Amino acid sequence: MNQVLLELLKEKQALSGEEIGLRLGISRAAVWKQINRIKERNISVESVHGKGYRINHLPGKGIIPELLFNAIQPIDLEIFHYPSLGSTNTRAKELALNIPHHFLVICDEQTAGRGRRGRSWLSNQGLDLTFTLGLYIEDEIMNFFRYTIITALSVYEVLSEYSPHFAIKWPNDILWKDKKICGILSEMITEAKDIRNVLIGVGININSEAALETAQTLQEITGQSHDLNLLLSEFIKKIFSYLPLIHQGRFPEILELWKQNLAWMGQEVVLTEGDHVMTGTLIDASEDGSLLLQDKSGIRHIHSGDLNRSLRPIP
Ligand code: BTN
Repeated sequence: MNQVLLELLKEKQALSGEEIGLRLGISRAAVWKQINRIKERNISVESVHGKGYRINHLPGKGIIPELLFNAIQPIDLEIFHYPSLGSTNTRAKELALNIPHHFLVICDEQTAGRGRRGRSWLSNQGLDLTFTLGLYIEDEIMNFFRYTIITALSVYEVLSEYSPHFAIKWPNDILWKDKKICGILSEMITEAKDIRNVLIGVGININSEAALETAQTLQEITGQSHDLNLLLSEFIKKIFSYLPLIHQGRFPEILELWKQNLAWMGQEVVLTEGDHVMTGTLIDASEDGSLLLQDKSGIRHIHSGDLNRSLRPIP
């Protein structure tokens, strides 16, 4: 990250090279070098006569990690931004091995996005959000699902500020009027039978046009384009507001909120798991994040599978 840009973005007025150098403990020549690097990124730096430098224009689209870093303060998160990556989850797995703290991997273009159950995830360069949050966490493996739940709830809550029609599709997609806008792929790295890292990969359709009939984008919902830096900072702040609750024994409160916003509660749904298809009424979710489906033979606990709304009316 460019330290000079971080300083300039914090200020509305111009900052002199001397002041920036003092703040960062670097020479004026080093400041000047960094200013040139900022300009190479199509960020316009104005030289105000006798006063110093000021950022007067940021490119409209795309992630600016320095902007994101300032927006999420005081959250301690190392940011890795790439113009193009195969998969942010794959990169996060590599980075996690050497990083003993929380970090974020974000890219402008993801060329081989991975989805759940071996599926792929499509996104558009500079228009959608594709990121992985690498949480450095010690917890029991059985609590892994909790981190996905706080992420799904956080994305749901932030998106719900734009429209009332969002819902969480079990286990962790976000839908808008039954169309998918966000998918989450969580993975973990373990050490001596405990979690060491949780890698939460999130793809959200923001400023693109939906590629599939079953998908939706935020721009299509609201009729306007959205600032990716601002949205991403909101998602991160929300996730980090829930994170400490897990370790304070307050996960049941989070689960309750997640449950209240699950799609198709009380309705007939179809669950597909490989060749096995079952239909039932979605009646509840339990404290381990599994679903309770009721059919003629009783109540079933569902731990995995693909859930969809049943198109058949309840008999
Ligand atoms: C799904 O709906 O099946 C989950 C999709 C998860 C996609 C995101 S995009 C960022 C991160 N990197 C990946 O390769 N996948 C996740």
